Amino acid sequence: MPSERVAAPLEPTAEQLRHWSEAALDFVMRYQHGLRGRRLAPATTSAEIRAAFDRALPEEGVGFDAVLREYDERLLPFTRHNGHPRMFGYVQSPGSAIASLADLLASTLNANLTAWRSAPGPVEIEQLAIEWIRQMVGADPGAGGLFVSGGSMANFSALASARRMKAPIDLARQGAQALPHAMRLYVTPETHHSVAKAATLLGIGSVHVREVPVDGALRMRVDALEAMITDDRGAGHQPFCIVGTAGTVGTGAIDPLDALAEVAERQGLWFHIDASYGGFAALAPAVRAKLTAFARADSIALDPHKWLYVPLDCGCVLYRDAAAARATFAHDAEYTRVMDAAPAESFAFWDYGPELSRRFRALKVWMMVRAAGVASLRAAVEKDLTCAATLAEQVDASEDFERLAPVELSIVCFRHVPVAAMRALDAASRPDRDGIERRLDTWNERLLVALQRDGSSYISNAAVGGRFALRACIMNHRTTPADMNVLLADLRRLADTLGPF
Ligand SMILES: Cc1ncc(COP(=O)(O)O)c(C=O)c1O
Repeated sequence: MPSERVAAPLEPTAEQLRHWSEAALDFVMRYQHGLRGRRLAPATTSAEIRAAFDRALPEEGVGFDAVLREYDERLLPFTRHNGHPRMFGYVQSPGSAIASLADLLASTLNANLTAWRSAPGPVEIEQLAIEWIRQMVGADPGAGGLFVSGGSMANFSALASARRMKAPIDLARQGAQALPHAMRLYVTPETHHSVAKAATLLGIGSVHVREVPVDGALRMRVDALEAMITDDRGAGHQPFCIVGTAGTVGTGAIDPLDALAEVAERQGLWFHIDASYGGFAALAPAVRAKLTAFARADSIALDPHKWLYVPLDCGCVLYRDAAAARATFAHDAEYTRVMDAAPAESFAFWDYGPELSRRFRALKVWMMVRAAGVASLRAAVEKDLTCAATLAEQVDASEDFERLAPVELSIVCFRHVPVAAMRALDAASRPDRDGIERRLDTWNERLLVALQRDGSSYISNAAVGGRFALRACIMNHRTTPADMNVLLADLRRLADTLGPF
């Protein structure tokens, strides 16, 4: 197709569209297959990126071929490649080919999943995909839910329902101002900050988000939780919700979920599990045994855009009793009134979540699970767990790295300890040790920055027991155990460039 600009860019001819589609799909194919060879993250500046793009508002367009070339040649060098097999930072899904294509198909269809009548087939597919997720993680057989933008919005939605259901007043009508007592919830210092943020947005207030101390493995201490609930009741507050985490963002710790469920049941509190990171690890039988409390949770936050390998965005909230979500989110308006009689066909997602217009997120989940099958997803999760165990073993067996936290899922927290630091620590008295520890924090921070700029491997950081930790989260079907060797070799190579300890 020679011409770059077309007469009607919003309505190209079939021939033009075929050419554009082939060019875009060719890009998808080259990108997916070339990921391992790419520099993982750019070492760049905002000024450099701005200078690469024509910033004038284009009165006349340049055409699709030209803009695709700009995307490929100018934009791509300036992004981190989250699908790279050695991207171990944060909790980052690599995406996957089937799900990327599904996203293209979803945008092409542009279904709006507000209610059954607006998109009957897509709404049924979302309900089916949610049911498959329920089975994959082992939630209560009666549980239902919906897709949201991510784990943060799932936590927000669940907390809104928790408060609605536990409030002693009609919260929807009277508002939080009418509450007779401050409502309090229980987390740990390891809980993801989206929970505290949700509490702030909901008007609960961050002082009412109580941080329960953790044990040596960074899991919520049940004895301390019970003591805090008793104290809070004595002080005139209303405890209403316990948030357990299935895979903390820092180290991957799993709270004692069954014990927390028992406390919640005994105390009449809502039990929410933030399983945004670890939820889909339930596909692996060895982990599933630790997540049996999913069946007892009132709500669960999950993130298919993490360990289900689908691209952003796709979070999910499950409710044991979806009536709680309805009580929280249903609002009457003439333009949303559904006039069909049959319950299945008068169903509306707007009654169960915060959004009205909703994209067809379910398509990528349904296509991924249906096309790839649960067995291949399970194998990928188990492979990630094996990679993390391999890295932990290599760290433990080495003389220059030290592990800082137990490995329950696929996060390994560790640090580099140069020989000079090791010797100094061996010889030091207690006050001197603190100084060396602080220097080790700085050393590892410099090492992290050097690695992120280097472009071969990418990790992020965590605070473990007050110490700076290098943190690798393995969540990528492309990663192999050999990549663990490369990561440690990259760190050693860069440590040699940092100068004396
Ligand atoms: C445990 C946990 N909860 C919640 C979130 C927030 O998820 P999202 O980034 O999808 O909003 C994360 C993100 O990493 C997480 O690890």
